[in-house]
Amino acid sequence: MNALELIRALAHDAAVGIVVTDALIEEPGPTILYANPAFERLVGRDMTSIVGQSPRFMQGKEARQATVDAFRRAIGAGERFHGYLTNYRADGNKYRAEIDCRPIRAADGRIEHFVAFEREVIRRVGRPAVSAAGRYEPASVSNDLLTGALRCLAIFEHVGCFFPLTNA
Ligand SMILES: Cc1cc2nc3c(=O)[nH]c(=O)nc-3n(C[C@H](O)[C@H](O)[C@H](O)COP(=O)(O)O)c2cc1C
Repeated sequence: MNALELIRALAHDAAVGIVVTDALIEEPGPTILYANPAFERLVGRDMTSIVGQSPRFMQGKEARQATVDAFRRAIGAGERFHGYLTNYRADGNKYRAEIDCRPIRAADGRIEHFVAFEREVIRRVGRPAVSAAGRYEPASVSNDLLTGALRCLAIFEHVGCFFPLTNA
């Protein structure tokens, strides 16, 4: 079973959006190979109009260029990107997405895929926080098994160093 098949099996019933691309980051790539039903709901499109596209289809006029550039630099360097972007649904509605994107490497260290965990976040009510991490909270909270597992794997966690998936 390869990494893509494993994610496909685990991700189907997850409450968090999970999307897998190939490793070709230059336009027109990366190309989406798999998205789970929660990702379909998040972006307001069905699978047939997601698979085969580049994740750029979610960008619109409020996508912050500096963050998009940071995203490209991180994945271009084979590193994790964890940040917040304004995404657009098919109906034109925008939402704030928290995105935790990581490379999946083969045993020889070559990047084979990228996987991103994505969820909608909303601004916290109250005092403005100094960092983006404190400024947003998940739009909905789920206690499904995978969400607990994601926490154990430090997905969406603000950590400087992490072990899963990037190390061969
Ligand atoms: C798995 C994966 C998921 C991504 N999800 C998003 C997303 O939700 N929204 C977005 O604006 N960009 C997303 N991107 C980033 C874009 O695909 C692209 O890398 C980014 O626009 C920077 O590259 P560019 O400057 O060539 O456009 C994702 C990338 C990967 C690999």
